[in-house]
Order: sequence, then C-alpha cells, then structure tokens
Amino acid sequence: MTKIKVLPHAQLCPDGLEFNAEKGISVCENLLNQDIDIEHACELSCACTTCHVIFTEGFNSLNESSDDEEDLLDKAWGLEPRSRLSCQTIVTDSDLEIEIPKYTINMVSENHPKAPRNEDKKISSIDFEISNKAANHLSAMLNSSDSSGIRISLEDSGCSGYAYKLDLVKNIEESDFSGTINGINLYIHDKSFTFLKGTKLDFIQKNLNEELVFNNPNVSAECGCGESFNFDSTLATELSSI
Ligand code: FES
Repeated sequence: MTKIKVLPHAQLCPDGLEFNAEKGISVCENLLNQDIDIEHACELSCACTTCHVIFTEGFNSLNESSDDEEDLLDKAWGLEPRSRLSCQTIVTDSDLEIEIPKYTINMVSENHPKAPRNEDKKISSIDFEISNKAANHLSAMLNSSDSSGIRISLEDSGCSGYAYKLDLVKNIEESDFSGTINGINLYIHDKSFTFLKGTKLDFIQKNLNEELVFNNPNVSAECGCGESFNFDSTLATELSSI
C-alpha cells in the first residue's frame, strides 16, 4: 500500500493528511480524490503550473519530468530542487511526502511576485457557481488563448443599467476576488462582487445560438432586450457610487 503524507497547508489541508494512495494515477488526482482542492487550472494537461508541489520525501522515486514540465516549473512560485507538477507525477510503490506551496502562479503577478491577496477574497462555488457546460465552454476558450483565467465585472450598459463583462486574462488584479471553480480560474472585480454573489453561470442553447447566461439572484429588473439589468434600489445606489 503506497502512502502519501501531505504536510499542513493553511487553506487546503490545515491539519495535514496521510492516506493510502491509488497507484498508477497522478499525485494531483490522488489529492483531489481526498478532497484536497489543489489548483489544477489546465485540468491536468501540463499547461498551467498551478498544481506545483514539493516532494519532501520520495522525490527520487518519481517518474522523469518532461521538457514541457520543466519549462512550466520555471514559472512556479516558490520553486525548489524537489518541485514537480503533481499532475505529471505518477504514484508507484514508493511512499511520498509532499508540501503544497503557499501560493500559486495565479496568486501573484508574473513580474511582481508579492504576498497574495487577502484570504477573505477567496471565492468558492458557494459564492459563484459555474455549471459543467459553462466550464467546458470556458475551458475551450482558455485553451485556445494564452490566458490563465476569466475576469468578471459589471459595467454601465443599455437602457436598464448594467451588463456583465467577461474577459480572458493572464493575471489577477491585486484587489480581485478569486478562486478555482469547476476547474476554471475565476477573478471577480472587487466592487462587483457583492452584486454577483450567488450567481450561477450556465451555457445554454437559445434558439439557434449557444450562450453564456448569468443566473444572478441579485438582479431585480431586466430590460426587454435582455442586454442589461438592474438591482433593487439599495444595491443600485451602492453600485452607482463605485
Ligand atoms: S494541472 Fe495544470 S500543470 Fe498540472
């Protein structure tokens, strides 16, 4: 029985964990199977660096890293000699001990590494949901770009007030709320967050088209053309002061 010991990580595994690992699959998959929600923005395809871990035991027993993995590791935050991408390391018979770095590449600016943002600004699927269909659609958009995630904000629009703005972005802005939801790195403009909280983003077929749809419980009125919307008067007053 192969064991994996995970050292404590403040957010992902506060008390640490030791578990019987499944052989033949990656360390990342093993962690996810144990509900350790390590980032894996590229869905384990060796394209994002967010699944970086450090092997404090068992490093020499690991399968060899590919050139692609080595290139990506160069960008990892907190790179160490025993760093690997957990999605590219396969569990065999050897026990492993791993440390999940405090930060990932998505939490720091590429050119100005700095302390990550306020932990209060971490989003979970309780705050914002992305359906499987929407996640597949966004994942395809991200894979055909060099962006690391999507950024959502509100902007003035149309006859009824506001519209959603969705951008593919490479880096988080320091003040953004952020999280990985259904495999998608999501950044939300800080001032827009209150108005988006509880939203479910879906991808639906409408007549002959398919489109992303925001099901936002905070919206109180929509214009007839469906292009813009508004909030109840208290929220709208707050938003107009932004
Ligand atoms: S999940 Fe993207 S490189 Fe491992």
